[in-house]
Amino acid sequence: MERDLSRQELTAETLVLWEKTRMSLRNCIKRVMRSHGVEDHKVWGTVHAYAFEIVKLLGTIDALIDHVTKGSSTREMHPWVRNPLRVATYEMKWRDLKPAIATSEAVRIISERVGDGPARFANAVLYDVEEVTLEEVLEKAEDEIERLSIEYSHPTWYVKHLLDLLGRDELIELMKANNEEPVRYLRVNAHLKDPDAVILALEREGVVVEEDPHVPLILRVVEWNVPPVRTEPYRRGWVTYQDKASAAAAYALAPEPGERVLDACSAPGNKAAYVYAYTCGEVELTCVDINPRRIEEMKRNFKRWGVEAEVVRADAARLKGVLNGGFDAALVDPPCSSSGSYNRTPEAKWTVKWRHVRRYAEGQLRILRGVADLKPGRMVYSTCSVTVPENEDVVHRFLSHEDTYSTRKPDVPVGSPGFDRWMDRRYRHHRHMIRLWPHRHMTEGFCVTLLEGG
Ligand SMILES: C[S@@+](CC[C@H](N)C(=O)[O-])C[C@H]1O[C@@H](n2cnc3c(N)ncnc32)[C@H](O)[C@@H]1O
Repeated sequence: MERDLSRQELTAETLVLWEKTRMSLRNCIKRVMRSHGVEDHKVWGTVHAYAFEIVKLLGTIDALIDHVTKGSSTREMHPWVRNPLRVATYEMKWRDLKPAIATSEAVRIISERVGDGPARFANAVLYDVEEVTLEEVLEKAEDEIERLSIEYSHPTWYVKHLLDLLGRDELIELMKANNEEPVRYLRVNAHLKDPDAVILALEREGVVVEEDPHVPLILRVVEWNVPPVRTEPYRRGWVTYQDKASAAAAYALAPEPGERVLDACSAPGNKAAYVYAYTCGEVELTCVDINPRRIEEMKRNFKRWGVEAEVVRADAARLKGVLNGGFDAALVDPPCSSSGSYNRTPEAKWTVKWRHVRRYAEGQLRILRGVADLKPGRMVYSTCSVTVPENEDVVHRFLSHEDTYSTRKPDVPVGSPGFDRWMDRRYRHHRHMIRLWPHRHMTEGFCVTLLEGG
C-alpha cells in the first residue's frame, strides 16, 4: 500500500508538477491530491495555503537559497531538490517551524526522490539558510529594482514599470497587497434568486456578507464558519465567486433589458453571467471564445448559474462573416499578462515576462479591432493587467485608426483614472478610463474602458 505523503512532500510535488506543466496551481493541487487519494480537508487546506504562499514568495525564497549556495542557483537544481528546499525555507522563515524539523523532512524527501548526495547538499544549504537574514541578501542586490524585486517577491520588469508609474512608496503598498490574502467577493445570480433572500440564506449557514456599495449584485464576504462553496446558495448556483473588479467591467457596459450583447472572449463566462444576472435574464447573449476546453467549462458554469446564451467557437479577431452584426453592446476581455491578479494567481508573476506583455498588447489590439468590425453600439475593453501597454496604449492605438468610436467615463462609482503618459507617449482619454487597484480598492488590478460609437 502507498504510504501517506507528508504535507511538505505533497506541496513539493505540486510545485514540481506546476514547473513541468505550467498548468494553473489550483489544477496542479487537485491533480496531486487526487493521485494520492487525499480526502482530508485539513490536508487540502494546508497544501493549498503552502503552495500559494510559496509561489507568491518565490522571488524572496529563491534569493535566500541562492545567496547561501553562491555558485549554483535554484534554477539549475533538480526539481526534487529545489522544491523541497523551497518548502523548508518557507517553513523556517515564514511559518516559524523549528529549522531542525523543516530540514529533516526536506532531507528525507530529497534522499528518497533523488539520492543521498543531493540530500547532504540540501542539509548544508538549509543549515546556512537558517543563519542568513533577508537584510544580508538585500545588501548584495545590484540596484533599487533588484532590491525591491527580492524583498517583495515580484518580477523585475514589473517593479521597473510600476516604479515609473506609481513611485516607490505606492509601489510597495501595491506589492504588499499582492502578497496578502485577497478579499473574497460573490456575485448574486439575481435571475435565479432575490439578493436579499440569498444574503439571509448565506447567513443561516454562517457566511456573513456585505452588499458592495459600488457594484450591484456583488457581496463582500466578511466572515464564514463554512467556506461559501459548501453552502446551499453556492451549490444551487445562486451565488458564485467573482471579483468586484471583474464585475465592475461588466457593469460598465450598462446592459439594458432587451439588448443584444456580445462577449467576444467569454470563457469561463463570469462577465457574461454578470450581464445576464444584472438584467434578470432579459438580454440576448452571444458568447464567443476560441478555446474548446474553456468553452466546455463555460457551458457547465452557465448550466449551474441558469444562464442562457448562444455559444460560438471563433477567433474574435476575425468575426466578420462569422457573426451577423446588430449588437447593442460588446464585452472585449482578451487574454492579458494577469499582472493585476497576482494575489489570486501568483503563478503569473513567474511565467509572464515583459516581452509577453508586448505580445499580449498586439493580440488585444487585433481582437478589439475584430469586434469593432461588427459595429456594436458600445464596447467595454477590459484587462486584469496593470501595465500601460495593455491598457492606455491599446486604447490609444485603437482610437488613432478608428474615428467612429470615442471613450466615455462609465457610470461606475469606484476606481482611479488611467495614466496620461508613458515613456514618450501621451494619452488623451485617460480620465475616462477606470483603474482598480488591489491596494486602493481591495480588488484585483483591472483597467476598464467604455467605447461608444459603432
Ligand atoms: C481573460 S479571459 C476571459 C474571461 C471572461 N471574460 C470572464 O469574465 O470569465 C480571455 C479569454 O479569451 C479567450 N481567447 C483567447 N484568444 C481569443 C481569440 N482570438 N478569440 C476569442 N477568444 C480568445 C481565451 O480562451 C480566454 O478564455
